[in-house]
Amino acid sequence: MLIKKRTGIEIPSSEITPKSVYLSRRQFMRGAALSTAAVAAGGLLAACGASETEPTEAVSTNIATGSSAEESFIQEAMPGPVSTTTDELGDPLNSFEEITNYNNYYEFTTDKERVATLAKDFPTAPWQVEVGGLVNKPKTFGLEDLLAFEQEERIYRLRCVEAWSMVIPWVGFPLSKLLNEVEPTSAAKYVRFETIEDRENMPGLSRGLFPWPYVEGLRLDEAMNDLAILSTGLYGEPLLPQSGAPIRLVVPWKYGFKSIKSIVKIDLVDTMPQSLWMRAAPNEYGFFATVNPNVDHPRWSQATERRIGEFGRRETLMFNGYADQVAHLYDDPNYDTTQSS
Ligand code: MTE
Repeated sequence: MLIKKRTGIEIPSSEITPKSVYLSRRQFMRGAALSTAAVAAGGLLAACGASETEPTEAVSTNIATGSSAEESFIQEAMPGPVSTTTDELGDPLNSFEEITNYNNYYEFTTDKERVATLAKDFPTAPWQVEVGGLVNKPKTFGLEDLLAFEQEERIYRLRCVEAWSMVIPWVGFPLSKLLNEVEPTSAAKYVRFETIEDRENMPGLSRGLFPWPYVEGLRLDEAMNDLAILSTGLYGEPLLPQSGAPIRLVVPWKYGFKSIKSIVKIDLVDTMPQSLWMRAAPNEYGFFATVNPNVDHPRWSQATERRIGEFGRRETLMFNGYADQVAHLYDDPNYDTTQSS
């Protein structure tokens, strides 16, 4: 894991990581979408799986420019340009364009390549995250409160349950810092997260495909692990709506569906939260969902994955390569995508 804290360096990201790198490998996107659609073949509803339409050429999206006062404020909190071009395993970062044009955000659409367009005008400011439940000091955090936590760069691999992956230079802060501020009581055992349910601006909500709102959860000790972050940006820039702006969870040792976007509510609870995927397809998606190459999804192998932008497949790593940091959290490392206890 690579960590860089806010440095105040003023050099734009574009000078460190040339735009040609951000915008490269675009031609691979179509292939990525087609293979994803193949995985989801059969018309079954699947996490990260179904594609509504024939994939089209990836949409190019500009990095947020920070025109409003709120946007400039977020920009100010960012830790500066990315510090490296690879992760700690030597894997190259995915380009900004890949990361922001191939997204799963079902509140907008199940078509990965249309999320960026449909989410373009999604209002992400002002924003509040209400944190409560079994805590001594419930608090509603505004964006400025969230950005007051020291923002760090975290280069993580994201492994979707659908067997594709990316390397993403996130900006954010440990979830534990926010939880410590509200002081969970001794009765708190789990953390429950909820995404905004904005029917006016999220066209996918009205399709009634899923039991909205999107809900996810972690056991409290998982949530307190230093790898679990709340992300506010990527590539040294504030998050764009398709990536879960203004704030999302990132838990890199679990399948991507655990990394819930655009969070408005966090509750400390004493019983295991029922996530959206546990309710939608309990035989396929369980609570723990730790990345495990030895436990196949009921409908496909999890032994290998396709890194977006690459041909061929890579071997999937236990806990997505983060076993040293998280294996101790689990008695049985073979928790699979369907296991809930
Ligand atoms: N969060 C919400 N609210 N809605 C979603 O549809 N999709 C999940 C997760 N978080 C999703 C979500 C899935 S399936 C994945 S793989 C990741 O977001 C994808 O994150 P990315 O689009 O930034 O790559």
